[in-house]
Amino acid sequence: MTDRLNITLLGSKFMGRAHSNAWSQVGRFFDVHPRPVLHTVVARNAAELADFAKQWDWANYTTDWNAAVTADETDLVDIATPNRAHREAAIVALEAGKHVACEKPLAATLEDAEAMAAAAAAAPGRTFVWFNYRRVPAVALAHRIVASGALGRIYHARASYLQSWGGPNTPLLWRFQGDIAGSGAHGDLNAHIVDAVRFITGEEITSVEGAIEETFIEERELLDGSAGDDISRNGAIGRSTVDDAVLFLSRLSGGGIASFEATRLATGYSNANRIEIHGESGALRFNFERMNELGYFRDDLEGSERGWTTIDVTRGADGHPYAGAWWPPGHGLGYEHGFVNQARDIVAVIGRGEPEVPLPDFADALQTQRVLQAAIDSAREHQPIQIEQP
Ligand SMILES: NC(=O)c1ccc[n+]([C@@H]2O[C@H](COP(=O)([O-])OP(=O)(O)OC[C@H]3O[C@@H](n4cnc5c(N)ncnc54)[C@H](O)[C@@H]3O)[C@@H](O)[C@H]2O)c1
Repeated sequence: MTDRLNITLLGSKFMGRAHSNAWSQVGRFFDVHPRPVLHTVVARNAAELADFAKQWDWANYTTDWNAAVTADETDLVDIATPNRAHREAAIVALEAGKHVACEKPLAATLEDAEAMAAAAAAAPGRTFVWFNYRRVPAVALAHRIVASGALGRIYHARASYLQSWGGPNTPLLWRFQGDIAGSGAHGDLNAHIVDAVRFITGEEITSVEGAIEETFIEERELLDGSAGDDISRNGAIGRSTVDDAVLFLSRLSGGGIASFEATRLATGYSNANRIEIHGESGALRFNFERMNELGYFRDDLEGSERGWTTIDVTRGADGHPYAGAWWPPGHGLGYEHGFVNQARDIVAVIGRGEPEVPLPDFADALQTQRVLQAAIDSAREHQPIQIEQP
């Protein structure tokens, strides 16, 4: 194996920037082998692409995704395009023998996710899904605390992901178009917290017992342009074909119960990704808006010490995940560090090393997609849905 890992990135906007930053930073903070090389970036807007490539130090750029994905020099294809585009690019890449790192949700539909997982199972390349919140040190620590058995049996998982940018003045971006996005807040936000609950508890979600899917804003202003490159409002009105909010109740494989809420209309919240876990001997709570902290309640503490403790998860010398690669204690991390940490773990797996905490592959993300589909089925059919288990 050479010590280079040539990356071809698809997408150059929000996640395109987050991933470009991750690939360029990872070798500066972690000792990684092979070393990622920013080889080629692909997007649709040719006019903007040259500037993007220059700003982020991509050696090459093109609008021809198929040629870039299948090129001999490409080792890993990194998919940061709208959800509907994940399937084709991932399957072409896997069939060409490449490693694939794909943004979440794995796909726009369960059918697409199944096809992608089947292609992954038949291909030599490794697969990864960018559930980046697993790589926030506080979330990784929560996973370790539960895995140590310190919480005992899990009774409750309570997860909500609250944003507020989806009001009536927000135009009909691809995120509101069902044929491109698959779903709205559900695939966008519930995907993250379903993955996080599975990751932290180590349990599977076995059923959806009831769900609500709501579209509050049915019409939005149309944009000229294509997915991710919407340039201007054109004054016409189109229909939103996705949910604005989805809430559902579930059972866990260890006998506990869980609730999930995702919305783009939680006025006052910008990115409140919150998870609380209650076990028989302790509890944990996390809120991304205070991402360097993990709340921990230990039921074995007596008297005056009993109560919630806030752990500042920045102390690498004390074993806080990823923290040792970054700054001295108390110098907090931000949103982008989760992506750099994930880039570190992707490279470690490709180099036959170990990730800091488990990384989701396509098979793992397919299970999250089954949960998402069960919630939608439950909401539409008004009945509980059992979820196929891996
Ligand atoms: N992990 C996270 O926290 C997180 C956050 C935001 C978005 N996402 C996911 O990342 C993906 C991209 O979202 P985004 O917010 O970056 O979107 P975006 O609209 O900001 O950018 C989309 C990019 O994809 C390109 N594109 C569109 N269709 C394409 C196609 N068929 N082939 C090649 N390129 C194409 C566009 O040119 C643009 O560069 C989505 O799957 C989304 O769910 C994940």
